[in-house]
Amino acid sequence: MTGLFITLEGPEGAGKTTNREFLAEHLRQAGHDVVLTREPGGTPLAERIRELLLAPSDETMAVDAELLLMFAARAQHLARVIRPALERGAVVLCDRFTDATYAYQGGGRGIGIDRIATLEQFVQQGLQPDLTLVFDLPVDIGLARAAARGRLDRFEQEGRPFFEAVRQAYLARAQASPARYRVIDAAQSLAQVQHSLLVLLPELLERARG
Ligand code: TMP
Repeated sequence: MTGLFITLEGPEGAGKTTNREFLAEHLRQAGHDVVLTREPGGTPLAERIRELLLAPSDETMAVDAELLLMFAARAQHLARVIRPALERGAVVLCDRFTDATYAYQGGGRGIGIDRIATLEQFVQQGLQPDLTLVFDLPVDIGLARAAARGRLDRFEQEGRPFFEAVRQAYLARAQASPARYRVIDAAQSLAQVQHSLLVLLPELLERARG
């Protein structure tokens, strides 16, 4: 594969979507074929799985069902969007990927890392992001931003301890593999965050060329 696979991670309200657009704009100006996508979702079928995952429901979803649906959506997304884009040399900017599974289903729901790793290997067969940007935000700020957006989805309805565990799982993963991750302080102003991204951009462009 010759493209570049960049994922954006972090809690609700950390500005992932805005910053993904910002990075895409700069990469396009530099002449790159950029694919913007997200998980769970990214294809019509995977978006239908996303609806199942996010809709609040009277029937509590078993944590293993949630985990398997995440990977079912991911398998579809990899087959239809991510792998073809990387094969033609594009830069894929994906809002969330498997780090979110380790953070939410692992940290948040308490599923063992080894079980997640087994599914990761089964579905991805070794494919990993080249770079993961973690937009880190204190839990209270994230919760307030998500609440201000209106109706809460099934994940957003979780409480503070859930999101503390999610945050710690992201930070632990970033710390364990510093070569792949960049942690960005998303509590800064948007201008400061985008300045950090601009500082990072030459490295991204270098990797995209390489
Ligand atoms: P968002 O993309 O609008 O933030 O919503 C997606 C939600 O799905 C978010 O709460 C995080 C959650 N999620 C997981 O729990 N596991 C995953 O693997 C992914 C990709 C997302």
